[in-house]
Amino acid sequence: MRLKDRVAIVTGGSGGIGIAICEAFAAEGAIVIVSDIDAENAERVADDLRRSGADATALHADVSEEESAEALIDGALRQYSRVDILVNNAGARIIKGLTEHTLSDWQKMIAINLTGPFLCSRAVIPHMVAQGSGNIINLGSIASFTGRPNRCGYVAAKSGVLGLTRAMAADLAGKNVRVNTIAPGMIASPFNKSFAEAPDTGEAWAGENLVGRWGQPADIAGAAVYLASDDSSFVNGSEIKIEGGWLGARSRSGEIPIWPD
Ligand SMILES: NC(=O)c1ccc[n+]([C@@H]2O[C@H](COP(=O)([O-])OP(=O)(O)OC[C@H]3O[C@@H](n4cnc5c(N)ncnc54)[C@H](O)[C@@H]3O)[C@@H](O)[C@H]2O)c1
Repeated sequence: MRLKDRVAIVTGGSGGIGIAICEAFAAEGAIVIVSDIDAENAERVADDLRRSGADATALHADVSEEESAEALIDGALRQYSRVDILVNNAGARIIKGLTEHTLSDWQKMIAINLTGPFLCSRAVIPHMVAQGSGNIINLGSIASFTGRPNRCGYVAAKSGVLGLTRAMAADLAGKNVRVNTIAPGMIASPFNKSFAEAPDTGEAWAGENLVGRWGQPADIAGAAVYLASDDSSFVNGSEIKIEGGWLGARSRSGEIPIWPD
């Protein structure tokens, strides 16, 4: 078991990718704190984990609120006296035209997707430094690397996540606390359910990456276990893209690889 007895907080832990990370961490022996703004769902996920034999608990938090983010870390420390892993997974996306984005839309995207990881990390880092070890994983996106239409706030925030990851890793040099980003592509979680199931985008978008399918939350969970474990002890300030090669290579319209019959 690669995460035996490590205490892990997963924000947005009752969403599609969050649940998969919580389950994978529990399977590797971690003590899992399922945190979400949706307290009822977080409780349900923690219940399911306990029923499968894991040590799990639910803690409510709105990561975009300073007091709430700090209360999450305090609550975890009160209960378990340490936090080894923080996964800043909570996220949300507004899809609207550029000029339709209100100031409040913009601020909401930055608050949840970028300020949230900053606030939760800032609260936990002194404890990780004091205990001499720790691991932070931030959820970026393909939108961290490339512009996407109708998502200016989300793209700006997720691009910022890469910078935040690198800056925190630099600040934590020599402290045995690593910080990395996971950048998912199109994952068929509730976040993208409407696109995955729609006739005009479901199959078409699956065919856009080199693997030829939608990603699943479990595809992300494997990378989270790797980054949280000592297997990745030389990976720091870095990012793992899990997007079926969507960012790595593209064909132009009508251009297909030539293979002999
Ligand atoms: N699904 C994808 O295709 C995809 C692609 C790229 C990046 N991501 C990123 O992965 C992460 C997880 O996405 P998902 O697919 O599981 O989405 P999801 O919508 O299924 O889950 C997101 C979770 O975050 C919670 N949340 C939202 N605002 C919050 C807040 N202020 N405080 C605390 N919790 C809050 C929600 O209640 C929900 O449980 C997000 O950061 C998302 O941006 C997802």
